[in-house]
Amino acid sequence: MKNIDISIPVSVIDYAELTVEERHLVDEARAASHRSYAPYSNFHVGAAIALDNGVIVTGANQENVAYPSGTCAERSACFYAHAQYPEAKFKAIAIAALDTSGKEVAEPISPCGSCRQALLEYETLAGHNVEVILSGSEKIYKVPSVKSLLPLAFTEF
Ligand code: THU
Repeated sequence: MKNIDISIPVSVIDYAELTVEERHLVDEARAASHRSYAPYSNFHVGAAIALDNGVIVTGANQENVAYPSGTCAERSACFYAHAQYPEAKFKAIAIAALDTSGKEVAEPISPCGSCRQALLEYETLAGHNVEVILSGSEKIYKVPSVKSLLPLAFTEF
């Protein structure tokens, strides 16, 4: 038997340390979190995706009275982005969230498993790393790729 340890690279940084483009993407994700429709959980999430055509597409979680019918911010953003711009490649995604009191979470939240798998599809299509920026009011996590958030991901081949 052989054991392997899998670790993921995460940079813990301040907003001020981000590039201008990254800061803009975080700002867009934060703004999108205020447009979320989350009357059941009262937890508001926003996502912003930078495309290689210069467009930033945003999404926010959309809940439904039949709970599983809703979707997360990340999937609302990535499905919309690819539906609108099927030729564009994803460059980066930023994610921000408001807690139930309406303040930005201090610690960043991280995409759920289904969103990681969905985002990985678009990273694979892009053919290069899609940077992931997870925003909190006290710290920001930067992860170099979606794949690093989903080690041992499912692929057909
Ligand atoms: N949610 C997201 O939008 N993204 C995540 O990464 C985790 C959770 C949403 C789903 C639901 O509307 C609310 O947050 C509470 O789970």
